[in-house]
Amino acid sequence: MIKHMKEIEALSNEVQNRYETQTSQVGTEILGGHFHLGYWDNTTNDNKSATRKLTELMIDKVRIQPGQRFCDFGCGVGGPAIQLAETKGCYVDGITISEFQYNDACRRGLASSVPDSVRFYHGNALSTPWENETYDGGWFFESIFHMGHANALAETHRVLKPNAELIIADLPLLPHADDLFVKWSLEKGLAVHVHPDQYEALFSDAGFELVSYHDVSDNVMSPLVEKTKELIATKTELLSMHSSPAAIDDALYVYDQMAGNLGYALITAKKKY
Ligand SMILES: C[S@@+](CC[C@H](N)C(=O)[O-])C[C@H]1O[C@@H](n2cnc3c(N)ncnc32)[C@H](O)[C@@H]1O
Repeated sequence: MIKHMKEIEALSNEVQNRYETQTSQVGTEILGGHFHLGYWDNTTNDNKSATRKLTELMIDKVRIQPGQRFCDFGCGVGGPAIQLAETKGCYVDGITISEFQYNDACRRGLASSVPDSVRFYHGNALSTPWENETYDGGWFFESIFHMGHANALAETHRVLKPNAELIIADLPLLPHADDLFVKWSLEKGLAVHVHPDQYEALFSDAGFELVSYHDVSDNVMSPLVEKTKELIATKTELLSMHSSPAAIDDALYVYDQMAGNLGYALITAKKKY
């Protein structure tokens, strides 16, 4: 596991560069302002509906009242934050390390039906500009693995109010995932993954307790490669303008490795004190 501040800083710098790339920018456009893997069932028929569906599942887990404040650590271009504010009537502050994503999120927020309820920040989620005990809830939506769980939870603990709930969409290691995959994933995916049985201790050390663990691997990871192939086939022209065939093959290889070694879980934790 990654622990030292220097390693974390280096990881944050690499993550920032990764999310500024053209490929990443096109990806957020194709996925309709949500930048995660998506959830597939009989109600979803394309990637945009699959990403909205996964966001819907996350929103269902958020217990927040209209007018209360929520924080989004690693908010991408703002799609999930906007959908949450629209659904729950709460205020949402999101932070992303990518300047492109920050600008795009601000643009999307202004164009949404809730321009006064969403606010975006450009910065590191490990040291936010937010005051202590400000938020009634928060989430890491496919972002905590880029930050190192322990450090990310420490900052979240600082800004959440006591008893507030934190929702995490994360990709835990499958039992057979070995050290080689873990090393590859850090180098290639800039991601630090943990085993499901590590969450309880991570939460406890950071002042949280585990409330629930919902395994959705069958609807997220199992369809990942096939659905990505279908997406590539329908967006050939757009993708060829921004990516080489080798880069597309490489992305498929990465997804194949991820699907073979990682699950997908929606986890709720509660701040204890
Ligand atoms: C896979 S994307 C998910 C984006 C968004 N949560 C969504 O679901 O649409 C990962 C996000 O984490 C953000 N991120 C990763 N490390 C970060 C850090 N240290 N500080 C702020 N944002 C970070 C990236 O900028 C990116 O927006």
